Amino acid sequence: MSEQKRPELKRLFIETYGCQMNVYDSERMRDVLSPLGYATTERPDDADLVILNTCHIREKATDKVYSEIGRLRAHKERRAAEGRGMTITIAGCVAQAEGEEIMRRAPEVDLVVGPQAYHKLPELIARVARKTGERLAADFTAQEKFDALPARAPDGVTAFLSIQEGCDKFCTFCVVPYTRGAEYSRPLADVLHEARALADRGVREITLLGQNVNAYHGDGGAGFSDLLRRLAEIDGVERLRYMTSHPIEMDDELIALHGEEKKLMPYLHLPVQSGSDRILKAMNRKHDGAFYRDIIARLRKVRPDIALSTDFIVGFPGETEKEFEATMQMVRDVTFASAFSFKYSPRPGTPAAGMMGQVSEEAKAERLARLLELLSAQQLAFNQAQIGRVLPILVTGDGRRPGQKQGRSPYLQGVHFDDVRASKGETVAVRISAATQGSLSGVRHEMATA
Ligand code: 5AD
Ligand code: SF4
Repeated sequence: MSEQKRPELKRLFIETYGCQMNVYDSERMRDVLSPLGYATTERPDDADLVILNTCHIREKATDKVYSEIGRLRAHKERRAAEGRGMTITIAGCVAQAEGEEIMRRAPEVDLVVGPQAYHKLPELIARVARKTGERLAADFTAQEKFDALPARAPDGVTAFLSIQEGCDKFCTFCVVPYTRGAEYSRPLADVLHEARALADRGVREITLLGQNVNAYHGDGGAGFSDLLRRLAEIDGVERLRYMTSHPIEMDDELIALHGEEKKLMPYLHLPVQSGSDRILKAMNRKHDGAFYRDIIARLRKVRPDIALSTDFIVGFPGETEKEFEATMQMVRDVTFASAFSFKYSPRPGTPAAGMMGQVSEEAKAERLARLLELLSAQQLAFNQAQIGRVLPILVTGDGRRPGQKQGRSPYLQGVHFDDVRASKGETVAVRISAATQGSLSGVRHEMATA
């Protein structure tokens, strides 16, 4: 093939902020752009095309976008002086929520693309590259987006699969119902088709993604548990996970399934946000602390080794010291293997932003520090409790040292172990011998002696 016939090699830099939905979307954007000759670079100054896949959930996340655009401006100017272009694209939830504002504030931005329009990226980028002066974002339906993006060619043995988008829950602190719109579930057949394609390419562990993933409702009345059962039937799919869930969607069938379906990993991310009933009500979470504790108790009854992860917000408007203490007590009672904790951040347009009794920054920071200390101690204790246990580890690749492998435990912990034989995609028994807050290490365990 002659040199001229190949698409010209162009460099693509993608920076991803925020949740796993964005990580997934960034992979898909890479896929959709690679036929155009875009190869990934780790350096923004080296890029012909920069995409910031943004997050709007907290103010800090939004601020970061504008400061990053500021840094890119310098690269863009320098490249222009050298006669090379740079197309700056803002994608994700900030693009969706503040597209016009970005255009006004940041003239160096060429393109703003909301999450529903990623499959149109090649066309939009071509338009910008033709220098028509257009700076736009198209918005399409969620269905169209899912249909038009190619299935991700996974580079490993674990993959995300997006099955649901949007949220109708309207927690009073949250922008998602405004940025990502109403709940939408993909048709069952499409999800199964994509899962089979992933398994055929060597994926062994699939994490189903959605803002309210367990609210999934497929066509023909298929619920989330039905979907999980169907996915578990696929040869090659050995592990299933899902995130993010809402407690009120944890129905009896789904809880029971955690006890029945061995492919469903014993690890669940279930955000609780607060341990105080009054705060939960003000947040419009639609359940109280007792309801959450009851779900955990029932999950532990059917799957005693299940580990929990959660999200907390501290300093929600009106939160008193006593109400914060209820959150601490919730942590002591439930015990979490991992958690994400955030200071409340008022988001324009959400009901909580206008509530009385906004908590001072100092009080929020102080409460967050206390909460993090407790959660870190629990995470370390959870990891240390694995020492001596033999865990099934899914091998994801080679370790840093020769002969070393790395893999993933059922509890999403990274594990290093010495083993020359194990190959990527295999699940092997490993006896855990050491633990830190972030990861585990161990030695290959011979099944014969298990
Ligand atoms: N302030 C702080 N944290 C927030 N989250 C969502 N909105 C806000 C906000 N306005 C957190 C919640 C949610 C996670 C994804 O982000 O804990 O579960
Ligand atoms: Fe936001 Fe609440 Fe919906 Fe989660 S359930 S996306 S926190 S509104």
